Amino acid sequence: MDAIDTSPASPARPLLCVVGARPNFMKMAAILPALQQPPDPLPVRLVHTGQHYDAAMKEAFFVQLGIPEPDDDLGVGSGSHAVQTAEIMKRFEPVIDQWHPRAVLVVGDVNSTLACALVATKKGVPVIHVEAGLRSFDRTMPEEINRILTDQIADLLFTTEKEADAQLRREGIHPDRIYFAGNVMIDTLLRILPRVPDPATILGTLPGGHAFMASSEVPSDRHDSESLVPGSHGIVTLHRPANVDDPRILARLLDCLGEVSRDIPLIFPMHPRTANQIRVQGLLDRLQKQRVLPTPPLGYVEMLGLVARARLVLTDSGGLQEETTALGVPCLTLRDNTERPITVQQGTNTLVGNNPEKIRAGVAEILAGGGKKGHVPELWDGQAALRIAAILKHHFGHAT
Ligand code: UD1
Repeated sequence: MDAIDTSPASPARPLLCVVGARPNFMKMAAILPALQQPPDPLPVRLVHTGQHYDAAMKEAFFVQLGIPEPDDDLGVGSGSHAVQTAEIMKRFEPVIDQWHPRAVLVVGDVNSTLACALVATKKGVPVIHVEAGLRSFDRTMPEEINRILTDQIADLLFTTEKEADAQLRREGIHPDRIYFAGNVMIDTLLRILPRVPDPATILGTLPGGHAFMASSEVPSDRHDSESLVPGSHGIVTLHRPANVDDPRILARLLDCLGEVSRDIPLIFPMHPRTANQIRVQGLLDRLQKQRVLPTPPLGYVEMLGLVARARLVLTDSGGLQEETTALGVPCLTLRDNTERPITVQQGTNTLVGNNPEKIRAGVAEILAGGGKKGHVPELWDGQAALRIAAILKHHFGHAT
């Protein structure tokens, strides 16, 4: 990626681009180079709030995706929602005071998204929200609150699906501020996909990966122990408070995964929140002697390589619902609702909640029939960031 002009001596007021948590990184990885593209690059500063800070949750993504080191790292870390949001706000305000940005760009729906949007708007700085208008209509989800409030205070709103435009209009947002631009996360997916390794190579680098492959069924024409072949494994991710914070729900889900793994071996990259809870509650033995491989959080390239060749994905992640739809891989979402309905209507996603019977039935259906085929939604074409950049250059390209 080209270097970003962030020198303090630059006379131009920058556009401040904010990231905070893992799902923000792949979105910003597409947006930054598009903003910087000649002949009319916008001056940009990258701010990382530090909401996610572990190497596996941050550095791996920055390096693999070619995101430059943040110009400002606020080092906020973990905390309750109130503490984390307040701390981000306190630490972001001086950045605005120092740089007088022409606008602040936020992505997604994490606490960093809302916190920085709120600081900016109260200082009279225009707010740009990428991935606006998604709604689960479930206000127990912290992300839903972040989405609703960020959209209300944003000046320019970029959407990934047309239903989001309609929703924003229903919420009183003027249509002139809404742009259907497509999905920047899929821009990054399409860029990286050609260079992902095959699953056996990735598993070979993971603790327990060789044993896992050896224990997985192999087709009769393959006899080596490392022949986990495309389509023969499933991927699991879990991190939503509704699934992992209550030990009884988590234990029930782990037992269910153990049962599913008798039919298809499962790779389970664990979010720190989930790993902590499993450790504290002493639940790891539920996965032992099952064909489930728990791993640390994986880098973007490794995860994409495993997901792209998976037979199915079981997840409560928002991003994976979209990525599986773009890849044509069947996805069972372990939630009762989704803020990304297009992945169910047009893509490969099915909602099964966290009820073990429904999960097992969903898996059986995929294994028997191949699962939903779906198609890739409109404008998930690898060009979303360029469309966004063109509009932003029109709006903010002449400010100094
Ligand atoms: C956050 C987002 C969620 C997103 C998810 C992706 C909010 C409200 N939630 O949830 O929307 O889907 O990121 O990962 O913004 N932790 C670490 N190392 C880290 C980061 C977190 O160990 O680098 C642990 C800490 O124990 C922390 C817990 O994970 O308390 C939760 O982190 P937090 O950022 O509060 O929320 P996530 O569950 O990651």
